[in-house]
Amino acid sequence: MQRITWGIIGPGNIAARFADQLAASATGTLSAVASRSLERARSFADRFSTGQAPVRAFGSYTELFADPGIDAVYIAVPHTEHVRLVVEAAEAGKHIVCEKPLSVDKAGALTAIDAAKRGGVYLAEAYMYRFHPQTERLVDLVRTGAIGQVQHIEASFAFAADAPPEHRLMNPDLAGGGILDVGGYTVSMARLIAGAANGEPFAEPTHITAAGTIGPTGVDEWATASLTFASGITAHLTAGIRVQDDNRVVVSGSAGRIVLAQPWLPNPDADTIIEVHRTDSATNHIAIPAAKQYALQADAVAAFHGTGQAPQMNWADSLGTVEAMDRWRAAIGLRYPFEPATTAAAANQA
Ligand SMILES: NC(=O)c1ccc[n+]([C@@H]2O[C@H](COP(=O)([O-])OP(=O)(O)OC[C@H]3O[C@@H](n4cnc5c(N)ncnc54)[C@H](OP(=O)(O)O)[C@@H]3O)[C@@H](O)[C@H]2O)c1
Repeated sequence: MQRITWGIIGPGNIAARFADQLAASATGTLSAVASRSLERARSFADRFSTGQAPVRAFGSYTELFADPGIDAVYIAVPHTEHVRLVVEAAEAGKHIVCEKPLSVDKAGALTAIDAAKRGGVYLAEAYMYRFHPQTERLVDLVRTGAIGQVQHIEASFAFAADAPPEHRLMNPDLAGGGILDVGGYTVSMARLIAGAANGEPFAEPTHITAAGTIGPTGVDEWATASLTFASGITAHLTAGIRVQDDNRVVVSGSAGRIVLAQPWLPNPDADTIIEVHRTDSATNHIAIPAAKQYALQADAVAAFHGTGQAPQMNWADSLGTVEAMDRWRAAIGLRYPFEPATTAAAANQA
């Protein structure tokens, strides 16, 4: 497979995790990092440079986009900057993995996808769990009827962050809150399973009702959503940045349940276990060998850059997730200061 040289945009928390795993990828090499501060870029570059593979540092994102030695960029900045930087990267001809959510809303996601189409480049939203073999196995179990007909899905992703009001998680100007930060995982998982149950890549909910608490921060500190799909499958989702949940996925069917104790961040260095509890037999513990999902996400660029999209996380799939999040936010009355007053109302009618 073709080797891909990578540039990182925004040397924050997740960028470091990506850089760490990229070293274990089959196809990727970290070539450069860009920050709004040359000093921060240099410090990150020093941390991830090796004798054989030095990492170059740029003091602006635009300089990195202009570098002909970079094949692909990993955009790892706060949500509100994603679309603008995807457009800039696509216009520079770079393949793109953009952190989730691809956009704060569906309109932005359409702009990002349109830019990738026009630029003829790969674009994937970084729901990295989609690239882990555990997720593929789960889809397979659902498709092959391991628990009979799927009836209900429970998915949670919520953590109690201790962050100041200006931090991206708490800050409405940076589209903070649980729905956009972690709710998208639960939405995308429910859509994936509801689709697989009907032999489709994903399914869209026909109804969404929700509850949530918008705290003094002005963002959703925790929220729940109930989804109904045309097939009759229901889902209950929990997301939060100020409450700890058990962060798992349970799929209930007519003949049993599947439990994923580590759906989003499986241990990269140990087997992950899928539990299949059938009503008519003993529990089956399926061991999924250790895998580095951020590295696999990077390797998908080498495999699929010719078609622009990866089957694990394609554009239509991203659009469905962001649209459901628009509806979830609208249902709890969460509108960011930079959004026009009509946005939430419009999404509510979808
Ligand atoms: N897939 C995952 O597992 C995962 C996990 C965590 C986060 N994420 C996603 O990754 C993105 C970044 O999250 P993070 O936790 O890595 O954030 P972070 O630690 O705050 O880092 C974000 C970086 O973005 C840059 N940046 C550009 N504009 C900024 C602004 N207006 N305010 C603050 N920083 C700005 C900063 O770098 P410079 O100023 O140096 O350029 C900063 O280091 C989010 O969209 C989040 O949803 C994904």
